[in-house]
Amino acid sequence: MCGIVGYIGYRNVVDVIFRGLTNLEYRGYDSAGIALRDEGKIKIFKSLGKLGNLKEELINHKSNLVNPIAGIGHIRWATHGSPSLVNAHPHTCTCGKLTVVHNGIIENYKVLREELIKKGCEFRSQTDTETIAHLVANEYSNTKDLELAIRNAVQKLQGAYAICVMHKDVPDVIIGARKHAPMLVGVGENENFIASDTPAIIEYTKKAIYLDDNEIAIVTKDSIKITDINGNTINKKVEILPWEPVALSKLGYKHFMLKEIHEQPDIIRNILNGKIYDIDSPVVLNEVKIDIETLKKLNKIQIIACGTSLHAAMIGKYLIEDFAGIAVDVEPSSEYIYRKTTTDASTLVIGVSQSGETADTITAIKQAKEKGSHILIITNRPDSNMARMANSLIPVNAGIEVSVAATKSYTAQLISFYLLALHLAEIKGAMDKNVIKNIKHELIQLPIKIEEILSNTSTIQECAKNFSSFKNFIYIARGINLATAFEGALKLKEISYINATGYAAGELKHGPIAMLDETMPVLSILVPGGITYEKILSNSEEAKARNAKLIALTSSSDPNIDKLFDVVIRIPHVSEILSPAICCVPLQLLAYYIAEFLGKDVDQPRNLAKSVTVE
Ligand code: F6R
Repeated sequence: MCGIVGYIGYRNVVDVIFRGLTNLEYRGYDSAGIALRDEGKIKIFKSLGKLGNLKEELINHKSNLVNPIAGIGHIRWATHGSPSLVNAHPHTCTCGKLTVVHNGIIENYKVLREELIKKGCEFRSQTDTETIAHLVANEYSNTKDLELAIRNAVQKLQGAYAICVMHKDVPDVIIGARKHAPMLVGVGENENFIASDTPAIIEYTKKAIYLDDNEIAIVTKDSIKITDINGNTINKKVEILPWEPVALSKLGYKHFMLKEIHEQPDIIRNILNGKIYDIDSPVVLNEVKIDIETLKKLNKIQIIACGTSLHAAMIGKYLIEDFAGIAVDVEPSSEYIYRKTTTDASTLVIGVSQSGETADTITAIKQAKEKGSHILIITNRPDSNMARMANSLIPVNAGIEVSVAATKSYTAQLISFYLLALHLAEIKGAMDKNVIKNIKHELIQLPIKIEEILSNTSTIQECAKNFSSFKNFIYIARGINLATAFEGALKLKEISYINATGYAAGELKHGPIAMLDETMPVLSILVPGGITYEKILSNSEEAKARNAKLIALTSSSDPNIDKLFDVVIRIPHVSEILSPAICCVPLQLLAYYIAEFLGKDVDQPRNLAKSVTVE
């Protein structure tokens, strides 16, 4: 959730670290800081709030800087200790010679802190990170070897860390180390980088080495050495980063979220390309590395995920059960972890995650792995921790998603679930061939239909304007679109801060109906021809009878719909089973335009981070 950038090389160090931190900004943060090696000294600058404040801080103290040759920067999302200057990273040891930035949480920091205080260390902040600075400095005073000091120190840490360290007395080197938190080394010529995530470095290099747990990177401007925790050198593969710098540009859109919503048709085309050659041929999903005989016998799947990915998982459950007849459980990762599950070696466990770094899902996947399950990961980050844990990996190929609110990665996850469910159905022979053909045909048509929605958003914009003053919303649906209602409500909540809740339409009368009056608009998702259409219509009438304002999201041309509902958002028709992949788009747009109308920080909503690396 925090971001780290370290740089050593010939470029302007401040600029490189700033660009890097700016490209990590979307992950969310509350303070920022930078430590620079300049004139043989370590100079530290910190600020609260946005990166612009740190820039100002640096400009104000420009005269203090001569020619920095290396530096480490950080954006912080507070976990231990409130957002404040003193708690912002980098942190230093008592004498100020050693400085560190850190992502993750050190669970045993209180015990270590007490021990270090007894040894004479002076703590200034409330953070767990400061413990690392004192711990490494303490080891360094014993060993006079920074690499060894870091190795010794990290062995005493419990929890998760990605750290980057500089020491005044050890010139020309920055050192990174990681456990349960991502870190990579960017490989350049006469320059090298350390970062917590790819966007921090893609403007400068496309080559990177991904550190694994318990590895340490000793980085100078013209050398990179990776060792294990015992100091043994490891030969790591230099990988080519899958991203282009243009992914970090808004390309004329006001916000990344809007750009990413508009990218969805092409993303769907790209995903389907190479997976469905024609509607008569089976889906090609070589990513599933389970032999056919095992797949044929497969009768239990568990899907674990959080937030928006959980909603995609709920739709995935519906599809796999419907198409392939395999029983599927879906659970939030944070609940799965604390439960005695029935996961075993015969269970296929699917982890779904945009970032591939969500701590709850990683822990859940580890637990499932220990039980011998085959782990299939559906993620937008084939370079992530989760991807590395996979036995089978389905990269959703949505391209980098900058807006904190997930949109295109969600649609891409959904399309991956359609392909997976069809693949399983074809292997098991569980579905009528003509039905499969129709679904494939409709899948191929999806991008055009979404383009139709995107080409005329006037009703959605008007609706957003007229409803932006409401403080509460209810979204109702049934069956496969229940998760669409949850997701639509989540989008509205997270970027506009309006209280929105998704309900199974049939559940409304069992309690929530008590809340309905003219202050509580109800948005109904109605797919004509679907088995739940008439029932949702009745549930909407019940809401109308309680004076609720009604919004319909539907492809129905029935004039009675226009009479019943205050606003009708019309979308092109698709069958009910395909409808989640199209209904999500107008709901994303509605949330976007409401938030935009209210003047909210759409791409970086308060309190949220793009990748949640703490449990
Ligand atoms: C909402 C959103 C979050 C994430 C959740 C899980 O727009 O993005 O709810 O879906 O934090 O993150 P990932 O998918 O990265 O595991």
